[in-house]
Amino acid sequence: MDMLVQHLQAALEQKNEAPLYQVLADTFASFINSGELEEGLKLPTSRSLASSIGIHRNTVNKVYEELNNRGLVKSVVGSGTFVNAPQKLREPPALQGTSAIPWNSLVSSIATAEPLTRYHRLNRYVGEGDYINLSRMHPSNELIPSELIRKCTDTVIRENGPAVFGYGSAQGLAELRQLISVELHRAGIPADKDSIIITTGSQQALDLVARLLCNPGDTILMEEHSYTGAINAFTSIGATIRPMPCDEDGPLLSALESVQPGSAKALYLMPSCSNPTGRTISLERRKELLEWSTRKGVPIIEDDYGADLDDESSPRAIRGLDANIIYLGTFSKKLAPALRVGFIISPVDLVSRLISLKQAMDLGTSLLQQYVLAEFIKRGYLRSHLRKIQPVYHNRRMKLAETLEKHLPAETRLRVPDSGVLLWLQLPAGLNSEDLFREALDYGVLVSPGSFHSVSPLASSGIRLTFCAEDETRLEEGGINLCKAIESLLHRAQSFTNTNRSAPLDGV
Ligand SMILES: Cc1ncc(COP(=O)(O)O)c(C=O)c1O
Repeated sequence: MDMLVQHLQAALEQKNEAPLYQVLADTFASFINSGELEEGLKLPTSRSLASSIGIHRNTVNKVYEELNNRGLVKSVVGSGTFVNAPQKLREPPALQGTSAIPWNSLVSSIATAEPLTRYHRLNRYVGEGDYINLSRMHPSNELIPSELIRKCTDTVIRENGPAVFGYGSAQGLAELRQLISVELHRAGIPADKDSIIITTGSQQALDLVARLLCNPGDTILMEEHSYTGAINAFTSIGATIRPMPCDEDGPLLSALESVQPGSAKALYLMPSCSNPTGRTISLERRKELLEWSTRKGVPIIEDDYGADLDDESSPRAIRGLDANIIYLGTFSKKLAPALRVGFIISPVDLVSRLISLKQAMDLGTSLLQQYVLAEFIKRGYLRSHLRKIQPVYHNRRMKLAETLEKHLPAETRLRVPDSGVLLWLQLPAGLNSEDLFREALDYGVLVSPGSFHSVSPLASSGIRLTFCAEDETRLEEGGINLCKAIESLLHRAQSFTNTNRSAPLDGV
């Protein structure tokens, strides 16, 4: 016991962020788990331990309560606190798989479709290094308001108790839907709370919409380069994706005119900051697309994943012009991906079917996370958080663009949109985006190759760059290194061409 007291005193002197009672409970726990405090041993009273190590008695009571919660001690009224035997960790027995199951022939052809394998094909090149990440559309740590989210979590658990840990309604928490409807109203998107369905990220919204609209073999229209998650969601239910040629203002109306009524189930679009190209569609083109959709009877799925991320006003969402648009939103980019909260604004006729599908897929989005998000919005934290991150993203965009414009070889073309979180880099003819992806890794930079985002599995010469995950200093360093990687690849491609030019053409 003397040894324990010495260790507890030593623990008191250490600087530690964790509350004192937890630090002491951890010290106790290591003594119990190692067997130094034997099962059945009576622990000192809180009064006596408090005076031996010079802390308040209430703290010792909290330590014993914590140990009790961990199952390491038991308190017997009138007798004291006694050590419990630690749980022995037993290795689970190794299970042999029976070789009789022919897994490869059982896996569906949909599950092995090409787009679904892209992530693994590319990711195996990425090592453990500290890459400068120009690929990840994920707010950097300092932009995640974790302390505010913690406060909201504490409040909702304190005020609602176990109620927040149950299953909720499949449509989503009514209070959250109401708050989202008010937020949308500010952005010029009228949406009644009854037309909103909360989803587990907007990725699930895509999955639900895909299941709702498509039978295997049905066609979905998308831009030539589009969001991988959407390509995957529609591929996963067996849909065929037809790429639509685009100009600088989005899908070409002339190409869309060739779509026969009834031959496509929907047009999937990200009108503001299209992922991966960063292109934003003008209000005129949005109106034309809407007119086309109404005339042809082909609905538009509008994915507004980047809403509110910048202070530049994007043209009004297409859903703000027509209630037949299927609109998808998310809190992943403007707040935190781990909340896994997104939503659909559904045309009236589809609401109940989408709710049934949502019920079938996951019985509802985490109720706890929905309560926390509702509290976050109600307190005004979301508005003030957006005011904080918008100028940060603006400055990061400028920094990355300036750096690239200064160092890029003349043969490349960089698109820097006025808004959104993406830049699009067109490589010189003959360079392939996956070659650059690998070359950039050697220069410590992670980028997203266009081939990862292309509807047809063709080589792409575009690169998607984002500045969400890095601060300005690292963006500058990453931009310079990326340009070096491009120079190096160009140099190799040119020397390859020269060598080949001078080589004799044997056997032709
Ligand atoms: C265009 C687009 N839509 C939807 C999503 C899905 O995001 P989440 O499921 O986190 O809401 C993403 C994620 O990167 C995205 O880029």
